[in-house]
Amino acid sequence: METVDILLLGSGGREHALLLKLAESPRAGRIWVAPGNGGMCHLAQPAELDPCSPAQVAAFAKEHGVGLVVIGPEAPLVGGVADAVRAEGIAVFGPSASAARMEGSKEFAKQVMVRAGVPTAAYRSFTDERSCSDYVKALAGPCVVKADGLAGGKGVIVAQTTEQALEGVRECFLGSFGDAGSTVVVEEMLEGPECSLLALTDGSTLVPLATSQDHKRALDGDKGPNTGGMGVYSPVPILLDGEHERMVQIMQRVVDQLRADGISYSGCLYGGFMLTKEGPKVLEFNARFGDPETQVVLPRMKADLVECFLACDNGTLSEDMVSWDDDWAVSVVLTSAGYPGSYERGKVIRGVEDAGSLDGVTVYHAGTRLSKDGSLVTDGGRVLAVTAQAETFEDARNLAYQACDRISFEGKTYRHDIGIKAIRGRDRL
Ligand code: AMP
Ligand code: GLY
Repeated sequence: METVDILLLGSGGREHALLLKLAESPRAGRIWVAPGNGGMCHLAQPAELDPCSPAQVAAFAKEHGVGLVVIGPEAPLVGGVADAVRAEGIAVFGPSASAARMEGSKEFAKQVMVRAGVPTAAYRSFTDERSCSDYVKALAGPCVVKADGLAGGKGVIVAQTTEQALEGVRECFLGSFGDAGSTVVVEEMLEGPECSLLALTDGSTLVPLATSQDHKRALDGDKGPNTGGMGVYSPVPILLDGEHERMVQIMQRVVDQLRADGISYSGCLYGGFMLTKEGPKVLEFNARFGDPETQVVLPRMKADLVECFLACDNGTLSEDMVSWDDDWAVSVVLTSAGYPGSYERGKVIRGVEDAGSLDGVTVYHAGTRLSKDGSLVTDGGRVLAVTAQAETFEDARNLAYQACDRISFEGKTYRHDIGIKAIRGRDRL
């Protein structure tokens, strides 16, 4: 079997999960990673390059005979890294810059959704503060204010009152989210549980992956500021009949609409949904795998990931390339004290191997690095994602927390209620 050398871009838990799954494939040759983290160096060699530089990534891939570039995070996608690599005739997993606007511009994504006739929150977009504020005042009630561009998960203000909304509008136009806030989208507030659906697509065929649910707030009980994600489980046990089919249809319609608009979307499309009383409605699309969603979706997936990713690039993706374990996965994210605000780095981490030796547990590294003396130390806000798989949801959840107890570092912080809502059931959310 012909093997393919791979360059993987990114440094989070998502990329560690991608790496483990790619490395399982008999098609995987040598694997490079840029920049990677403390858990990835055993399986991949570091590539000295800026992952957001289209020219550097393309040049490295060409020079080292890389046959597949896998792009984890959104910034290189929006910045055109996939385009530069494809221009060299090298396969890439990840959408072009124009397709990645589904994540890079909320207004663009809304326009595509409207053309595709897909259910989403009603919205208006503004480029000047005065008319935006006037609109928010006229709404006289709850709404959601969003900076248009990439804002690292921070540019969304869910406002219960007009005052909060006006404050959000001011922040966006003040430049708190950089250029991301020069266009502002104001949306109707939707209600219901959230559900994420990741899907692989080659631009026409869409293969849905398992559902998952992230926990975005920093503190127990969904309190505190929004984060990149504090924990997640898969699949989502609270879906009602027909909701899954509906979400898949919505995503297929979006991919079809983009194709009709002359944009081929290949890679992972991430649909963030609110399960409202009128059915699933789209909150947002991302142009990549979710983090930490990937850390519960990929371990349950039975597939040759190298084959799948090549098929996304060359238009030969098919449903039969993916099947699923019928277990449950729960992942708890261990963070540095202070995250998502400021935090310290360089704290020695102990017990990762011990935790990973529990049957069904995988510890994914995110903000970690190996220090000069070889010890593992913290190097970011989200440090590790501790994933447990088991036959029942409760067992997976208990096992994940048991594994978390085996890991220690100064300032270790985590939520204690990951998955509680799923156990309580839909009526009691
Ligand atoms: P986004 O980055 O657009 O997914 O927004 C981040 C979070 O804000 C979502 O996960 C939701 O919890 C919340 N959110 C976004 N849009 C809405 C909306 N229209 N109604 C209610 N909550 C929302
Ligand atoms: N977990 C949310 C995201 O990846 O955007």
